[in-house]
Amino acid sequence: MENNFLKDQIPLLTPYQMGKFQLSHRIVMAPLTRQRSYNNVPQPHAALYYSQRATKGGFIISEATGVSDTAQGYPDTPGIWTKEQIEAWKPIVDAVHAKGAIFFCQIWHVGRVSNTEFQPNGQDPISSTDKGLAPQVRSNGIDVARFSTPRRLRTDEIPQIVNDFKLAARNAIEAGFDGVEIHGAHGYLIDQFFKDQGNDRTDHYGGSLENRCRFALEITEAVTTEVGAYRVGMRLSPFANFMECGDSNPKALGLYMAEALNKYELLYCHMVEPRMRTVVEKSDCPHSLVPMRKAFKGTFIAAGGYDREDGNKAVAENRADLVAYGRHFLANPDLPRRFEINAPLNKYNRETFYLSDPVVGYTDYPFLEEIS
Ligand SMILES: Cc1cc2nc3c(=O)[nH]c(=O)nc-3n(C[C@H](O)[C@H](O)[C@H](O)COP(=O)(O)O)c2cc1C
Repeated sequence: MENNFLKDQIPLLTPYQMGKFQLSHRIVMAPLTRQRSYNNVPQPHAALYYSQRATKGGFIISEATGVSDTAQGYPDTPGIWTKEQIEAWKPIVDAVHAKGAIFFCQIWHVGRVSNTEFQPNGQDPISSTDKGLAPQVRSNGIDVARFSTPRRLRTDEIPQIVNDFKLAARNAIEAGFDGVEIHGAHGYLIDQFFKDQGNDRTDHYGGSLENRCRFALEITEAVTTEVGAYRVGMRLSPFANFMECGDSNPKALGLYMAEALNKYELLYCHMVEPRMRTVVEKSDCPHSLVPMRKAFKGTFIAAGGYDREDGNKAVAENRADLVAYGRHFLANPDLPRRFEINAPLNKYNRETFYLSDPVVGYTDYPFLEEIS
């Protein structure tokens, strides 16, 4: 396999045709919440942050972006349900496009990973269940998040949430994004329906695997009908048990979804490696994404705990078409260039992941030339 690649080109740096999008390399920027969108409105500093990480033909997925006023669970995460938010995204998207990169918006509803403080009129967060969450350490490893007991969505309320995703997708396209990624991972609302640890419903959104996947597939149907499947991807983490959202048969869940997404001809499936027990905690694990990679017909993106060597191997062995990098991309605005020349990487500082400062830990990670 290795010999098929140009002599001085590593697998990650080879071009790839993702549907109608011509990518010049396979190093994707993973979605990264940064909590610098004051009052849920994207800010001008995000234009610099994303454009620093944009390359010609590179693929960037935005931080998780709320689909409605009930979708939030963290301070200062962006939304895409108001006119003001759509307008605020436009210059950010333009800055990324000016560098020639492809930019998708990750659309998100946190469900029960919230508390009344973040909800309209101080109401209870909504979920698939009324089971609450114990306080949790956030993925910066420092902050502790506290959650309110959620209110279980009534069956007849579900179409409204599906519709919120549809409108958010439409708004993302209006803001100029090239497409959307539906956030079905990490214990948030869609995952709260998927996983049998979280979903204790007795209606046709709970119980069997088919029922637990219904909510995600209704969203997929609504979003693809609205904007076209050629610009829609979905992120899934069947093996993770973050936010008390684990499943008793994650492989069956992953395979069922990979096959179901084929029916919608989804552009890509973005899966988090089973070794990621939480969002950022890597551990030894006997499972692999290969069965899902084989089952899914579109572009397959793998994420979670990758470095240069590991990512090259995944592409060379055809275990993934693209590899998404989270923390390394956060800390290395010129990550593709560094991988190309095998340069050392800046170390990420998790204490500044979610700082609200518009510069520190955000746009001040140095480029290679600034170091030399
Ligand atoms: C600061 C931070 C914010 C994150 N925000 C999101 C997010 O908004 N959406 C998402 O799907 N994953 C999010 N993740 C998970 C990353 O996309 C990625 O899956 C994870 O960091 C593991 O990949 P890595 O080892 O390359 O960092 C976040 C991770 C970190 C460290």
